[in-house]
Amino acid sequence: MTEREGDTGDGQGQANADATMLVHANSRSGRTAGLLNPPVHRASTIVYDTVEDYLNRHRHIYDGVIYGLYGTETNHALAAAIADLEHGFGTVLTSSGTAAITLALSAFLKAGDHLLVIDTAYRSTRRFCDEVLTGLGIEVSYFSPEIGAGIASLLRPNTRMVFLETPGSLTFELADTRAITNVTRERGIITALDNTWASPVFFKPIEHGVDISIASATKYLSGHSDVMLGAMTGATEEIYKRLKDAAARWGSAASPDDCYLVQRGLRTLDVRLERHQRNALELAAWFERQPEVRKVLYPALPDHPGHALWQRDFSGASGLFGVLLDAVSDKERSAFFNGLSLFKLGSSWGGFESLMVPAWPAPARSCGKIEDGALIRVHAGLESTNDLLRDLEDAFARLRASRAEPAMPRSMRTLP
Ligand SMILES: Cc1ncc(COP(=O)(O)O)c(C=O)c1O
Repeated sequence: MTEREGDTGDGQGQANADATMLVHANSRSGRTAGLLNPPVHRASTIVYDTVEDYLNRHRHIYDGVIYGLYGTETNHALAAAIADLEHGFGTVLTSSGTAAITLALSAFLKAGDHLLVIDTAYRSTRRFCDEVLTGLGIEVSYFSPEIGAGIASLLRPNTRMVFLETPGSLTFELADTRAITNVTRERGIITALDNTWASPVFFKPIEHGVDISIASATKYLSGHSDVMLGAMTGATEEIYKRLKDAAARWGSAASPDDCYLVQRGLRTLDVRLERHQRNALELAAWFERQPEVRKVLYPALPDHPGHALWQRDFSGASGLFGVLLDAVSDKERSAFFNGLSLFKLGSSWGGFESLMVPAWPAPARSCGKIEDGALIRVHAGLESTNDLLRDLEDAFARLRASRAEPAMPRSMRTLP
């Protein structure tokens, strides 16, 4: 991991402990016959030796193998590894990160409740709140990521849950998780946090007072761009059981094949993140030197407004960041993106490859003004940065050339 200003060394120690745990997180001892990785156990039907065992099966609903929907040993091994990494009581696996978000919210909210959501939440989180939860009679309101302890003034008598994501999607603002959970815990309000950007290696929300830590395992935990999976980890037994019940009630199952692939991904999570971080820092510094770049939105940079909070709470930064350029025309945008060779145009990040996409956060925000300009979301993959920088130099050269080209005469623009 990169040395950071003011690092006390605690984050480093924790990261090293995670590295060892991820390599050795195996399976629950004795249950997988000495195999290093838990095998794929697929099942819908589970059969019992005696009618007594059958009738007692629900006693094992939270940790046993009783019915395919509740998971097999493959699911349980992965869930145990993620719960360890999160420092939580237990993890429930879901079919996607989006399902982990929607199930965590559904587990605790009912008609008449009020939900507070950070304004910078992932767009699908917001759509679920606005399109589904409000339709079910739940009041939803949004707050600025800068709120901190000021969240107290937004609480209503019926506020049941607060939903956080830090840094925010696309614009990467940091929230003061501890200041918020100090308030919510005192009032018995449940806090959930989408921790996909940092992964539980770089940030442990439960250590900061959060009740439910959520990860899209589709991203870094899997790391190979070929799996959809989500994880919701409860801080306590009570919360874990409620999450597990919600997943069962809504009929959400995680495929053992996908759990197996994520378990494989976990083995290298620590080293992959280290490389994503190193590459992102190098690319971010390069972007900052380009005259067209107004700002780089990456919490690991000392001039990021959330840098001090990031240093306080996180032990590293992942490979995803934003680059804000002055406004570009459609033609300039096409010149920049069309022709990229190593950077791919694609949404789901956290895999081995570098990605770049144009992004428009404004339609999914209601608190505060979004700076205008052209935002690019960059994912620094695991390639050599020399090669990535060549691809970027070419992209900026195309952008500059397209600006230098004389505007096409009006008569030509109308030709078929
Ligand atoms: C911050 C964040 N949370 C959750 C998700 C959803 O994860 P999934 O694609 O596994 O549904 C995404 C996907 O891009 C994301 O960026």
